[in-house]
Amino acid sequence: MKKPDPINEEYTFEDGLIVSSTDLKGIITYANRRFCKISGYTKDELVGKNHNIVRHPDMPKKIFKEMWDTIKQGKEWNGIIKNLRRDGKYYWAYSHVTPIVNDDKITGYSAVRRPAFSTEVEENIPIYEDLLEKESK
Ligand SMILES: Cc1cc2nc3c(=O)[nH]c(=O)nc-3n(C[C@H](O)[C@H](O)[C@H](O)COP(=O)(O)O)c2cc1C
Repeated sequence: MKKPDPINEEYTFEDGLIVSSTDLKGIITYANRRFCKISGYTKDELVGKNHNIVRHPDMPKKIFKEMWDTIKQGKEWNGIIKNLRRDGKYYWAYSHVTPIVNDDKITGYSAVRRPAFSTEVEENIPIYEDLLEKESK
């Protein structure tokens, strides 16, 4: 029997919030315990790395461009993100990303994520597949 490809295996998490903060470039400055557990990395492995450490190849570039365009303007962004764990499994999260503002200046960004509902995932899969296909042309 063929061994399952871990990239096609979902890691489900039912509760808890994944919290992370980054600097202006998306370098992780803080990761809570939940983020470590769900991503499969230790705090030391996450802090200091770009947040794309958990980027999944199924995620269209356009989604992150929209996210960055929004948060750089000082606005909040919400979206469904498919992320890649250290062991190759994936997890879907509903993400809320906000700029951290000090003295009217954006000094970094923060993200809070909960497990995505299956309805949210099912709604987004065809949209992301479509975007990804367009990006590959
Ligand atoms: C606060 C914050 C949280 C982020 N969370 C994620 C995330 O969970 N997954 C992800 O792939 N990218 C996340 N990003 C975006 C990455 O920094 C990066 O732009 C994205 O993964 C695309 O990678 P690329 O720039 O190498 O194409 C986050 C960025 C910020 C500022």
